[in-house]
Amino acid sequence: MNTQNIQLDIIDVAENKFIERYNNAATNITALYNTLYADHPNANKCFDELLNIIKKAFKKRSEPLKNKDLLKAANANEAWFLSNNLCGMSLYVDRFCGTINNLKQKLNYFEELGVNLLHLMPLFETPKNESDGGYAVSDFRKIDKRFGNLNDFKDLEKEIKQRDMYLMLDIVFNHTSHRHQWALKAKQGDKKYQDYFYFFDDRIIPDELEKTMPEIFPESAPGNFTYIEELNKWVMTVFHNYQWDLNYRNPAVFNEMMDTVFFYANLGVDVLRIDAPAFIWKKNGTTSQNLDEAHTILQLIKQCVKAATPGMALLAEAIVAPSEIMKYFGTGKYLAQESDFAYNATQMALQWDALGTGDTRVMLAAQEQLLQKPFGTTWITYTRCHDDIGLGYDDKMIGDAGYNPYEHRRFLKNYYSGFYPNTPARGALFSVNEKTGDARISGTLASLCGLEKALESHNELEIDTAINKIILMQAQSFFIGGVPMLFYGDEQGYINDYSYQNDEDKNYDNRWMHRPIINWNENYLKAETVENKIFKKTQKLLTIRKKIAVLADKKNLTWLNTSNPQVAGYFRAWDKARVYCIFNFSNKATAISWYTFKQNALMPTTLFDYWQNKEYKVGFDNEFLNLKPYQFLILAPR
Ligand code: GLC
Repeated sequence: MNTQNIQLDIIDVAENKFIERYNNAATNITALYNTLYADHPNANKCFDELLNIIKKAFKKRSEPLKNKDLLKAANANEAWFLSNNLCGMSLYVDRFCGTINNLKQKLNYFEELGVNLLHLMPLFETPKNESDGGYAVSDFRKIDKRFGNLNDFKDLEKEIKQRDMYLMLDIVFNHTSHRHQWALKAKQGDKKYQDYFYFFDDRIIPDELEKTMPEIFPESAPGNFTYIEELNKWVMTVFHNYQWDLNYRNPAVFNEMMDTVFFYANLGVDVLRIDAPAFIWKKNGTTSQNLDEAHTILQLIKQCVKAATPGMALLAEAIVAPSEIMKYFGTGKYLAQESDFAYNATQMALQWDALGTGDTRVMLAAQEQLLQKPFGTTWITYTRCHDDIGLGYDDKMIGDAGYNPYEHRRFLKNYYSGFYPNTPARGALFSVNEKTGDARISGTLASLCGLEKALESHNELEIDTAINKIILMQAQSFFIGGVPMLFYGDEQGYINDYSYQNDEDKNYDNRWMHRPIINWNENYLKAETVENKIFKKTQKLLTIRKKIAVLADKKNLTWLNTSNPQVAGYFRAWDKARVYCIFNFSNKATAISWYTFKQNALMPTTLFDYWQNKEYKVGFDNEFLNLKPYQFLILAPR
């Protein structure tokens, strides 16, 4: 396949720039496409189609979005999404406030809190009772009527842009609902659409693949294939049996989904969350996760987006081992040219590890790997999201900290699911796999930090401790580098909601316990309520974050040696600016030597803590900075 340079009969700045970008990307697009599809019988035809899809995407892009693209690219040295001014929140529109129209009334709420990037959980049509929270899409372009319609969405988008806020949406890239048109046509025997999925006439290949493919939902959806009676065939369903995996070996599927990527881009999406990209290529004899071809597909998407809709950043939702995650930022020639964002899921889980054990050593053992993230890319940092918490970090990290990996994980699972004697945490195990002993953890930030239990026993001291833990967890993730992504409800300390147990669409999936329905009783505005305390503190953290420019992600994180396993510390530095962040993860008071601050060339004499508004005189090396249980400090040299 060869691309031809394009000439359009234009000429304005945006189009000029487009031609330049397109021509620059053309060689890469061709090479990446050929890697995947050169041998496919429809390769040529589909390639021409792809080029047209790219050109059409630019043509359809609105003037305001084209201008925004240029603005976002204005600072060539620093991508817009690295800024310390960005802070996100993920939310389900229906559970947060009912409808898209209602959400417009809530924009002041986000601004008040300090949130300016809205991640709206999947809004496109999904069948009732088979939706996986919106991740089983039956129409990629039709807003589900539960939320409103496309015009409501467009109005919301305008309002968001007017307020200089940003928008993040998902593309559910790995699979469709079995009620999607493509799946329905496949079921009716249409060969073209059967080729959009992975169909098998018998169990021979599925059985082979099953030998090495892990199960994602072993309790509610065991195995990776579903029998389709109408066809007497098996179809690949890695997630639930109603989610059919798309066959990206077929270039027509790639084109359809690339066109959908552009449809979202042209709706004004600033960050596109590519759902489950680790799974998009399958190969016998492998786990069918994180394969090279999956990366090639992501790199191809990036090149196409860079050409036509460059203002849209890409987020790979790959919740994978630390050694694998780094590859989602691109490798070799495509370093920093794959996804702009990835979730720092390892750090997220390790914070829970540190909080549960009061020992930061496992968290620190992982950092060398996490620091490899390329310049110009960034993390989504978070303490909770709508999914479970997996303890997928390496055994070696646990071993290096002196623990037995099996026992250590068992402790954490018991601690957070409420089985460990006297644990303050209230969560539950999710996706327990009897065969492998694996399990993940569900529960809200507040419940896992002990608030649910403390409220139940009306124990003021324990309530305060839980609040301190919540804020410690948030602070660690707000300052470490990347765009913080709050999960709605956490800013008010929502505890687990057990009503999902009575809902047939949800009762097989306990992740719903941490997806609350917001009750707008405005308690968070009433002084001294628990909600108010948590809201105010979260707000304060975000205000501080916006004040400190050095917190922009310039790959400028250095861990400190605190010589105290209870305490993690790092500093963020750029030019002469620096800020030290210190966190006591344990329930005991402790101290670190002032020497901690003198290891890295600078010798600060006075440090100002933004959190307490308090100045510290840096003492001698044999003197100590005292820390209360779960205390943290955000210290800038004065
Ligand atoms: C992603 C989503 C998760 C969903 C899965 C399947 O991991 O975050 O909620 O179940 O993809 O789409």
